[in-house]
Amino acid sequence: MSHLIAPSILSADFANLQRDVEMINNSDADWIHVDIMDGMFVPNISLGFPVIKAIKKHAKKPLDVHLMIMDPDRYLQNFKDAGADILTVHWEACPHLHRTIQAIKALGMKAGVAVNPHTPSNLLSEIIADIDLVCVMSVNPGFGGQKFIEHTYNKISTINEMIGATKSKALIEIDGGVDMNNYKRLIDMGAEVLVAGNTVFSSADPMQAIADLKKI
Ligand code: DX5
Ligand code: ZN
Repeated sequence: MSHLIAPSILSADFANLQRDVEMINNSDADWIHVDIMDGMFVPNISLGFPVIKAIKKHAKKPLDVHLMIMDPDRYLQNFKDAGADILTVHWEACPHLHRTIQAIKALGMKAGVAVNPHTPSNLLSEIIADIDLVCVMSVNPGFGGQKFIEHTYNKISTINEMIGATKSKALIEIDGGVDMNNYKRLIDMGAEVLVAGNTVFSSADPMQAIADLKKI
């Protein structure tokens, strides 16, 4: 499988959201990454259901919704109704992660688990076979435009081995600080989905930046 690119809407121009969603529609991007922050799990607040619905109205690609919120079980149905296709929760925010994953799948969405940079990869061992996506945070979540944490490369290897050993179908997604200098190494190491916010939207030509990230 060729790797997928998921531009992060967090770095889009929120006053021109339709324009930026259409840019993604017309680009080589595969998914649209939507970051949800609650001001508790992470020290920032991003956007909520009306904005997700507005994005969905124009999006021609799956919405990859990344929940950086405490106790996401309260809102799974709302995210489904708003248009999420892939719903990712944080390992650190879910005391009953297995139940949460089953609930996401029962609602007809793909289920992902995200891990913070300090969270050991082996904590995924008992859930990896049940999920569709592992989101490896390569920055501390909360903000776009941060510096990539180099230790992420080791985590990709460990998680890749775990996926092989458990015959899991989970895709490995890298979120944070992905740029033109590191994306090839990430793919070489086993990353299958690359989230890119700043690299796409701060580029003079975002469509070309997406096309460049697709090149191997
Ligand atoms: C960070 C978010 C990321 C962010 C990535 O908390 O989860 O998805 O938008 O942005 P860049 O690519 O700019 O690091
Ligand atoms: Zn994200």
